[in-house]
Amino acid sequence: METIPKTAENPRVLVVFKDPGHRLLAHEVLKKHFSTPFQETLVSSLQEAIELLEEGSKSFSLIIFEHSGTSQALIRLLVQFGGQVDYILCTKEESPSSIFKFDVPMEFATPGNDSSIQAALKKIEISKDKKNTTNLALDYVGVRGDILSSMNPLRIDVYIKMQDGRFIKVYKNGDAISKADIEKYRSSGFFLKKSEYDDLLTAQVKKVEALTEEENLSDEKVKETVHESQEMIRDIVGEMGFTPEAQNIARASVAMTMKLIGSRPRLSAIFQELKSIEGTYVSSHSVVLGKLACALAYRLGWSSASTFLKLSMAAFLHDIALKDDNLARETSYKNAVAKQRYSQEDLKILRFHPAKAAEYTRQFNEVPSDVDQIVAQHHERPDGSGFPRGMTAQFISPLSALFIIAHEMMEFPTIFPDLPIEKFFEVREHDFNAGQFRKIFAAIKNDTKLI
Ligand SMILES: [Fe+2]
Ligand SMILES: [Fe+2]
Repeated sequence: METIPKTAENPRVLVVFKDPGHRLLAHEVLKKHFSTPFQETLVSSLQEAIELLEEGSKSFSLIIFEHSGTSQALIRLLVQFGGQVDYILCTKEESPSSIFKFDVPMEFATPGNDSSIQAALKKIEISKDKKNTTNLALDYVGVRGDILSSMNPLRIDVYIKMQDGRFIKVYKNGDAISKADIEKYRSSGFFLKKSEYDDLLTAQVKKVEALTEEENLSDEKVKETVHESQEMIRDIVGEMGFTPEAQNIARASVAMTMKLIGSRPRLSAIFQELKSIEGTYVSSHSVVLGKLACALAYRLGWSSASTFLKLSMAAFLHDIALKDDNLARETSYKNAVAKQRYSQEDLKILRFHPAKAAEYTRQFNEVPSDVDQIVAQHHERPDGSGFPRGMTAQFISPLSALFIIAHEMMEFPTIFPDLPIEKFFEVREHDFNAGQFRKIFAAIKNDTKLI
């Protein structure tokens, strides 16, 4: 899928040089090169750069770095975590293009030589200009087949991209499409016209708001609509970040879920619901999780509207960086690796989806401050066996701890299909026997009268 060139709008550059003089030189070259304001991050080692990328708290459109040794392993890691951005590798090698072959756009320059870095920057821009004139990538947005299947009949024209960069319409607004229709073009990917897509997003906000107004809000309808909203947002954030339209959809969907949850959510009702799900993964994962997290919070006496908002928002956003339901089902990174079913790319997506989703959350205007933290920590475990950071209990916030417990509880019927959900508090007690986790567990376990 074509990514939209970011350098043309808002260049974010990571500069990696050990020599402070080389860093300064790169800074001067960049200042001269970009006519628009740009952001730069300067670090002194590849190790430092990889850690920064691994964390996922910052994203870049260009990485300029230096290679002085013979090992390519660090470069491989840099490229793995940096992803599909532009790279300029400064190296003293005679013919670097024959030595350094990576599946990303990479230009070469000589370390400490400003004109060679300038030339590399120009080359990147020329190749981008060429791409922009030969296709209309900026007018279209790539979407997955899933969003089309959640919209039947279609409410928008659907295009595919030809090899020469042109887009052709394959289905039109109003068409009823079958699974086979979607499969037919799934591998080449689907595209929608951006202008029409914006209308569709506005319509989705209206739909959610109208539903929220309904007096007897139906549980099934909420789940279905939240799922639809998430499908749309997943595609947008991946391509364009959390745009205002995507934020409106998220806000409206969270408000709707909160209305469904109410101000006094009963744990017993959620237990019944979890039993009826019978261990299968549901597309309404986030709605059920929001309900469960709020019901647990209510039992702990954390029943303010702002706590419910934080938990519902975190539930809506926590897996927004995952496009694959199979990956969303994995609660342990180690288990996912052991299954040997996933590609390296999938595992990387799984490992960093909490950090990525937290990054999206921070792009959200007016989001309560703890939400990104809950999202970032939702796969951490009290003993440090979680991911992506392997944090231990003392570093995990109380609200995150509650959210983690709720998330694990949802998986309980899958892992122990023969045990009643109430047994969760006995069976998993030893896993959550530290810090905030212990307190939360004890409070819920000892207070049985509300179940
Ligand atoms: Fe997750
Ligand atoms: Fe999840």
